[in-house]
Amino acid sequence: MTALRPVRLTRRAGLSVGASLVGLSTPGTAYAVGESASMNRQDHAPETSLRDLGDARGIRIGAAVSSRPLVAEPAYREILAREFSSVTCENVMKPSFLQPSQGRFDFQAADAIVAFATAHGMTIRGHTLVWHNQNPAWLERVAASGENASAALRDHITGVLTHYRNDGPVPVLAWDVVNEAITDTGALRDTLWARALGPGYLADVFRWANETDPDARLFYNDYGAEGMGRKADAVHALLRGLVQDGVPVHGVGLQMHVGIGARQSPSRPDLAANIARLRALGLEVHVTEMDVKLQTGTGTDDERLAEQAQVYADILGTCIEAGVTSFTFWGFTDTHSWIPGFTGKPDGALPFDTAYAPKPAYHALTHVLAGG
Ligand code: XIL
Repeated sequence: MTALRPVRLTRRAGLSVGASLVGLSTPGTAYAVGESASMNRQDHAPETSLRDLGDARGIRIGAAVSSRPLVAEPAYREILAREFSSVTCENVMKPSFLQPSQGRFDFQAADAIVAFATAHGMTIRGHTLVWHNQNPAWLERVAASGENASAALRDHITGVLTHYRNDGPVPVLAWDVVNEAITDTGALRDTLWARALGPGYLADVFRWANETDPDARLFYNDYGAEGMGRKADAVHALLRGLVQDGVPVHGVGLQMHVGIGARQSPSRPDLAANIARLRALGLEVHVTEMDVKLQTGTGTDDERLAEQAQVYADILGTCIEAGVTSFTFWGFTDTHSWIPGFTGKPDGALPFDTAYAPKPAYHALTHVLAGG
């Protein structure tokens, strides 16, 4: 870290920041940019935001958005619009929502999120067209029967991308066309689509998407393939093959569901090397779903929050240096995070707490974006 500007750290609401936070060397002093570490929503709006700082660095900062709080909670809307320049629908652009019964598309919930994003000058990452989860029952049945599976998947992709064409009223700039098609050991995942259509489905779906909206940026998205390793090697090999075959794939999404504690997040050199080799294929790299679990670590609450801040800062800093162009969190407030539901344990994996106050992670992220 260079060019740090020390500011006094104010203790508040039981939150203190340990000496390990982002290059902190003097207890009681933290490094933040443009705002006091005591800033919270109740005090005043911050002078800077992740969004503004990201704009200055040429990186979009995004959040996954959930429909209910967007309608029900003013604080949710306020922070979303202020802090983020990109939006992903956390659920409502998945096939079970967009085509609940065959041939009947329902864009209402997704379009409400798109409308909010557009009104606030944010771009949209579409998520996701081809996945083994959150499919409507009819689509699973068609895939399992083998008959007309290809036509059903193609119709879904064509229907969705026609609605969201970039030359239309509700443009979606980037799409996670395929989500999680590789297993943790690097094999092709045995999904409804692999079984029905064979491995060639991966190239087909990108082609269908590109034919429908030639201006959409098309991504392969996966988890656990962020650093170097068997799975990351397999994702790289898959993409190299697609690129060599002239398949219209434009980018890779690294989900980045990580945690504090040993080996719960990629090392900086591994992450940098993996991004570099993906970019060397001519692909854009986005971080698409970042959160940092606390339950994987040990120590006091303050120590774990400080470690979480460090993980966020290390990964964002590495990504900026490595040329990542979009960086999305899977939510932004601990009130609405998928992690407790997924792991069955309480957590606090996002940069804003349950009272919508920024956590040490938030300050560490702004510091990195400001060039720290
Ligand atoms: C999750 C949502 O956050 C949950 O609300 C939902 O119940 C299940 O899906 N990888 C992905 C996302 O690509 O779509 C998942 O989202 C989280 C893991």
